[in-house]
Order: sequence, then C-alpha cells, then structure tokens
Amino acid sequence: MAKVNKNYQKLSAGYLFPEIARRTNLFLNENPGVQVMRLGIGDTTEPIVPAVLNGLHKGVDDLGRVETYSGYGPSEGIDSLRKGIANFYKENGAHIDPSEVFVSDGAKSDSANIQGIFSEDCVVAVQDPAYPVYVDSNVIAGRTGLSDDNGYEGLVYMPCTEDNGFFPELPKGKVDLIYLCSPNNPTGNVATKVQLKAFVDYAREHKAVIFFDSAYASFITDPTLPKSIYEIEGASECAIELNSFSKTAGFTGVRLAWTIVPEACLAEDAEAGVLHSLWTRRQNTFFNGASNVVQAGGVSVLSAEGKEQTDNQVAFYLENASIINSGLQSVGITTYGGGNAPYVWLKAPGGLTSWEFFDKLLNECHVVGTPGSGFGPAGEGFFRLSAFGHRENVEAAVSSIKMNLKI
Ligand SMILES: Cc1ncc(COP(=O)(O)O)c(C=O)c1O
Repeated sequence: MAKVNKNYQKLSAGYLFPEIARRTNLFLNENPGVQVMRLGIGDTTEPIVPAVLNGLHKGVDDLGRVETYSGYGPSEGIDSLRKGIANFYKENGAHIDPSEVFVSDGAKSDSANIQGIFSEDCVVAVQDPAYPVYVDSNVIAGRTGLSDDNGYEGLVYMPCTEDNGFFPELPKGKVDLIYLCSPNNPTGNVATKVQLKAFVDYAREHKAVIFFDSAYASFITDPTLPKSIYEIEGASECAIELNSFSKTAGFTGVRLAWTIVPEACLAEDAEAGVLHSLWTRRQNTFFNGASNVVQAGGVSVLSAEGKEQTDNQVAFYLENASIINSGLQSVGITTYGGGNAPYVWLKAPGGLTSWEFFDKLLNECHVVGTPGSGFGPAGEGFFRLSAFGHRENVEAAVSSIKMNLKI
C-alpha cells in the first residue's frame, strides 16, 4: 500500500501568491477596465542583452555541427563555465577552485535540495522573513512540526527587524544549518563583512554549516559590502554558497545557477572533502547537468562584454528601485532596501497589517505588491515592492501611489 509523505500536509506556504492572485482577480471583476500595476513578483522583465544572446545562439549552432555537437555533459557543468565562475570569485578576493563549482538549473532547486545531504535531526535556523523555499524544503524533509502564527515548531527563526537593521542576531543556542540570504529577499538588506564574520565564527565554533544565498549579489554596488561569503576569512570551512544567473542576466526562464561546496567545508561528523563528495554524489544521482545551450549563454554572461551589458541592466533595475524608494518616501512612507537590491521593503503606514496594506494599495492605487507576512512571522506589518519592471510601469505605479494613497 503506497503512502504519501505526510510532511507535505504540514506546508502552510503556497498560500502567498495564490492569495495575491485571488484578491487581484476579485478586484478586477468588481472594477472592470481598471489597469492594475504589478510590483509584486520578483521576475525579470527586460530582454536578454546582445552579448549573452550571441552566446546562447552559439550554443545552439554548436549542436548543429558534428565537430561541436555535445550530448550529456558533466553533471557539475562544463569546464569553461566552472572556470569562469571561479574567476568571478577571484575578482572579489575569494579563492574558489573550479572543482568546487556545481553548475545547476536554478538556485531554487539547489536551495531546496542542499539540505538533503545533512542529517534529518539537524536543527535549522532561518532568517525571518525569508525566501520560502528554505523553510518549505525542511518541512518536507521532516525537520519541523506543525505551523501556527509563530511559524513551524522545531525551526529556529532569526528575526530581522527594524531594531536590528534587518540582519539577525546569532542564534542563542546551538543550531546546525543556517540559511542566510544577502542581498536579502524580501528585505533588500545586505549583510556587512562584520556581520557575516560573526556568523562564520559561530558556525566554525559549533561545526554548523551556513547556506549563503547570494542570488542578488550582482545588485551590490557599494564596494565595502561582500558579494560572497568567501570574502570572509574561514568561510570555506563552514559555508556553502548559492548564486544564480536569473536576476543578473534575465535567466529566470532560461535557468542557470551554481552552488559552491568547498573541499574545506566541514560538518560535525564530516571532515574536509566529505560534503563536497556527498553533493557530487547527490548531483550525479539526481541531475544530468544544465542544458549545454544555456551553459554557453552563461559563459558569455561572464565575458567582459557580457558583464558590462548585464551590469547596465542591473543598474537599470536599481534605478527603478530608487524611483520606488523616493516616491514612497515623498509621501511619508518608511522604506528600506533598494540601494543594493532589487527589492524595496516598506513599513505599512498607520500600523496596518501586511494584508490590510495590500488591499489598500490595490483599492486606492491599483498597485499589487507582496505582503511581508507571507515571508515569515517577522514580516508582518511590512510589504515588498519589486524593482523588476518596465520603467513606464514603475513610474505609473509610483505616481499613482503619490496621488491616490490616503495616509
Ligand atoms: C533568494 C532567492 N534565491 C533563489 C531564487 C531562485 O533562483 P533561480 O531562478 O536560480 O531558481 C530566488 C528567486 O526569486 C530568490 O529570491
């Protein structure tokens, strides 16, 4: 008799984006003809830059000639891409060997799967609020109890609040797996080197492992802020880093990412090299490598020309964030993030809950955003606006907020 994984029944998520769609559709049915402006979802909108398109085309063309045709490649990715990624770290002052780079089809899947090489009884700590995949993947793996308004039983929530500048204090007791995301989705906060150093020291002391999600690293323009956790001394002993081409190069639909598992990375019962070989085994068993066409595109993202063009596109989104930030601030709304991240995190005015503000923004301004409470209990009372949009839509949404929001 087949039985299902009952942990799926514990999941409370899946609720956020369907609920946003439900309320938006209800509003549109009641207000036919109204144009809704969407600053909700973190999906890219601008076309792929020419240098990267050339790389993708070359990937396709190579398949059409016998001399350059390739079939299955290494699960870990093609050499040129792994070398290019290792070089990206070198430019940021961190030494990563190409053999420590695992190319994949997305940071979403990697951030969900990485917990699978660790013991079921590991205690997991997450930033609150956080990208929901970290929590959900651990719920499905059976590391939590049921959830209530305070989150899942058994998970350690590390609140990120106005008081601590949206970066958490160190866990009070001993935890084993720690998820950090910088630049952060949803708060837009970027961890400093000093803040990361404290977590690296904690992890080394407790033989914990940090999963460092840097999917938005290319949005960091402040040179004092770390783009990688490996800029911190000792991090390769205790940190696994995830990054993605999605937001850097408009690859959300193309799909390409990477995870770094350093040889030096340890766990309580795993000496250097063990985590690296477990992840190698995991990928070789469950994954047959990212598409060769897409990897050719990835190589071109890392070329000088590709970097210049994708940097310009990232700067365009950051300009959107700045338009959102100054528009909201001009009407007295308190905002955070946006300077080195594509997300603006605002405090719902008048003490409104996240969902109350969602309804108000939709009804008064016809703008759709994302309620902060959907990312975790500490997100209550906050709201996320995304800077991934065409300029005219962002400007129209901001001027509607300035004109119509009653606060
Ligand atoms: C923090 C964070 N990590 C990972 C991802 C997923 O990236 P990918 O498109 O590479 O799966 C996202 C996507 O929104 C994200 O916000």
